[in-house]
Amino acid sequence: MPSETPTRAPLLPVVNRRLAVLVSGRGSNLQSIIDASARAELDATVAIVISDRAEAHGLSRARAAGIEAMHLRPGDYSGRDDYDRVIAKLLNDRDVGLICLAGFMRRLGAPLLEAFPNRILNIHPSLLPAFPGLDAQRQALEHGVRVSGATVHLVSSELDAGPIVLQAAVPVLDADTVETLSARILVEEHRLYPEAIRIVLEGGWEVRGRLFIPRLDGASTGRLQAGS
Ligand code: GRF
Repeated sequence: MPSETPTRAPLLPVVNRRLAVLVSGRGSNLQSIIDASARAELDATVAIVISDRAEAHGLSRARAAGIEAMHLRPGDYSGRDDYDRVIAKLLNDRDVGLICLAGFMRRLGAPLLEAFPNRILNIHPSLLPAFPGLDAQRQALEHGVRVSGATVHLVSSELDAGPIVLQAAVPVLDADTVETLSARILVEEHRLYPEAIRIVLEGGWEVRGRLFIPRLDGASTGRLQAGS
């Protein structure tokens, strides 16, 4: 009998580099993704930006960058699943490989999660699993933590609880207000999100239970990055 060569688990295919970014407001993380891609630090194209709010500044940022920008008013749909199905179709029609939630204030339902399994990222302004949900920076201050930060994770059906791709730690100072802490965390968010997208697009990672297991050849730079 021929001796068996040890086989490696097949690497996940490289994720298609066309991104959709979903926003509800300011869109500064969207801007950091657009800028990283324009500077060729991130080999990806933002194919479409969708917002649930017409007044979201993220939509203007997208238009200014020549990116298709679409407002989908939730009230025009019969429910969350209907809304999410329409988004999934729009993104499939545009051959989107990865969805990035960037301040998108709606929970996603099964139609989107199933259409893009492990292909949806979110950024959250705390070191998850601490302080999920709204007002994470206020929660951190009220809890008296000395360190907070930012997390990029894959989106699952549980709120702010999917596998963690990258985190950055940020000190909490005695004099911090919600505004000053949020601003310090935001600087890290803008660095972290493009880097996490790069890691996910690189492929070769896998998800085991709660864990995002990066590829082992050094393409990923580590899951916790010290804040500057
Ligand atoms: C960021 O703090 C992000 O972590 C959270 O919502 C905020 C969005 O900010 N999910 P922006 O719209 O990207 O400026």
